[in-house]
Amino acid sequence: MSEDPRERGKRLSALKALDWVEEGMVVGVGTGSTVAYFIEALAKRRHDIEGAVASSRDTAAKLESRGIRLIDLNAAGDIPLYVDGADECDPYGRLIKGGGGALTREKIIAEAAARFVCILDASKQVELLGRFPLPVEVIPMARSLVARKLRALGGLPVWREGYVTDNGHWILDVHGLSILDPVALEREINQIPGVVTVGLFARRPADLIVVDGEVRHPGR
Ligand code: A5P
Repeated sequence: MSEDPRERGKRLSALKALDWVEEGMVVGVGTGSTVAYFIEALAKRRHDIEGAVASSRDTAAKLESRGIRLIDLNAAGDIPLYVDGADECDPYGRLIKGGGGALTREKIIAEAAARFVCILDASKQVELLGRFPLPVEVIPMARSLVARKLRALGGLPVWREGYVTDNGHWILDVHGLSILDPVALEREINQIPGVVTVGLFARRPADLIVVDGEVRHPGR
């Protein structure tokens, strides 16, 4: 049976990301099904690298089970490389992330990384962000307040009921936003009291995008 084209795209992009892994590196590792392929590939290089910083409990478990040493971000300091997937990516490397709920730790590691390589299959590419519902991690007591503010911004927030993030918080998935200025919207949502993280990665976008195994330079 032939491989599903989306899975093939994810796998090829994940393998390509190994090109940026260098001897002795601490590698930041994202979360999700695309990253799962990357972890499989990285396991073969585990003796070359110093270790990996995980963006979720799920990723930490996968890394450990493949014998890759886990490193705490506080001990690592700034890191040279972060590899992660996304739910949507625009031509400038700006992303929607958090479909898997790991957006906060993902954003922290992206910020600490000198290079952020985003690995995708072609279905994730969009001209304008917003078709994928925008995840917003919130402090539980602020859920309803934040939802009202997001409605005032023109979105339709839906509580991901029953889901608790690795940080003990909740998620609102915001439908129907037209994200014409991702940097401004990221800033605006970040300022709502009770918001932990918005899954817009625009202020710190990806530096390189790999789509179905092909490297793209954002904005070019
Ligand atoms: C996890 O919270 C997300 O940001 C993922 O990076 C994103 O959802 C992509 O996941 P897949 O690789 O499973 O599509």
